[in-house]
Amino acid sequence: MKHAILCLQISLFLSSFSYSMQAQYSSIFSFGDSYTDTGNKVILFGPTTPGLLINKPPYGMTFFGHPTGRLSDGRLVIDFIAQALGLPLLPPSLSKNQSFKQGANFAVAGATALKTSTSPAAFYPQAAGGGAKPPPNNVSLSDELGWFDAMKPSLCGSPQACKEFFGKALFVVGELGWNDYGVMLVGGKSVAEAQAYVPRIVATIVAATEKLINDGATAIVVSGISPMGCAPGNLVMLASQNGADYEPDTGCLKGLNDLSKAHNAQLSQALTALGGRYPGTRITYADLYAPVIAFAAAPARFGFDGADGALRDCCGGGGGKYNFNLSAACGMPGVAACANPSVYVNWDGVHLTEAAYHLVADGWLRGPYARPPILGA
Ligand SMILES: *[C@@H]1O[C@H](CO)[C@@H](O)[C@H](O)[C@H]1NC(C)=O
Ligand SMILES: *[C@@H]1O[C@H](CO)[C@@H](O)[C@H](O)[C@H]1NC(C)=O
Ligand SMILES: *[C@@H]1O[C@H](CO)[C@@H](O)[C@H](O)[C@H]1NC(C)=O
Repeated sequence: MKHAILCLQISLFLSSFSYSMQAQYSSIFSFGDSYTDTGNKVILFGPTTPGLLINKPPYGMTFFGHPTGRLSDGRLVIDFIAQALGLPLLPPSLSKNQSFKQGANFAVAGATALKTSTSPAAFYPQAAGGGAKPPPNNVSLSDELGWFDAMKPSLCGSPQACKEFFGKALFVVGELGWNDYGVMLVGGKSVAEAQAYVPRIVATIVAATEKLINDGATAIVVSGISPMGCAPGNLVMLASQNGADYEPDTGCLKGLNDLSKAHNAQLSQALTALGGRYPGTRITYADLYAPVIAFAAAPARFGFDGADGALRDCCGGGGGKYNFNLSAACGMPGVAACANPSVYVNWDGVHLTEAAYHLVADGWLRGPYARPPILGA
């Protein structure tokens, strides 16, 4: 823990030293799902709700030393962004007795972009065959925006004061969409059927971005989705018998990756158009696809284990090629993590390790994985 605190101080020092000439933000407000949630899911359902695995060890083992409601072994991309900007790690928006003047994180694990009244199967590992059902995914982006609106009076007193306050903030939207597509795919829909929803899902994310601009945001980072065909959970649950369904260079599922690509292409194009309508606003498209596909194609280049590190879960009791098993999922009793999470890309079947999130965050902050980079001129 001492080591972690020391690293934190060093990285804060370095970030303020190296970037003192950059635009500084006084707060961060973020929206999203389990790639971004820093504790809301656990607060929303209560820490003892049956089937909730994300607040059990070994979640949090690497950085915090205990589970925090983050779906990883440590920090998420949003945490690395906060540290690089010299801000505290974002408190979950549902936490009590907390000041949100330096930001709030509205993300909830399992959240969808589209409003959803259904909550079918898993996106992150859950009990099956007699185990307790996990809490439902009943939160959508519109709920998160509603929580943001409800918080405003505690942050700023008038529309004008809010514009000034939010004008100095960094907004981060997403990743969102993974769960929308995942609900459909795990529920038995084809990739083509899921792909038909891309325009609606992208339009919903872009509408949220525009709403935040109208609320005063002048700097917004909007994330695309990761290659869904490279997630060990999908490689197991949506496996194909046909070798031609897998990409030769990565071993990921081609059709799912094409879905991710279609989503990202439409999102980035729509954001460019949105930026054209709001020339005073800095809109960053943050790429989650390029880094994760690069890790899968050449894990050793990024410090990951060349044999196991790319598509095999660090945490899971599945054995097999991907170490993913719904009946022995990360967080269940007796299910262990690998000895060294930092040489794995994948943590629990859907989510990445802190090491992978760190590389993604660096690429968003300084390039090459964001356009324009968060810390760029
Ligand atoms: C709330 O915060 C105040 C000030 O930091 C502290 O004195 C108080 O004990 C806190 N209450 C709870 C319930 O955590
Ligand atoms: C989701 O379920 C929780 C727990 O039952 C509930 O508190 C919450 O209001 C529901 N919906 C949203 C949007 O939070
Ligand atoms: C999955 O986990 C269950 C429960 O521990 C176990 O019985 C089963 O053999 C595992 N499957 C694989 C493929 O490892």
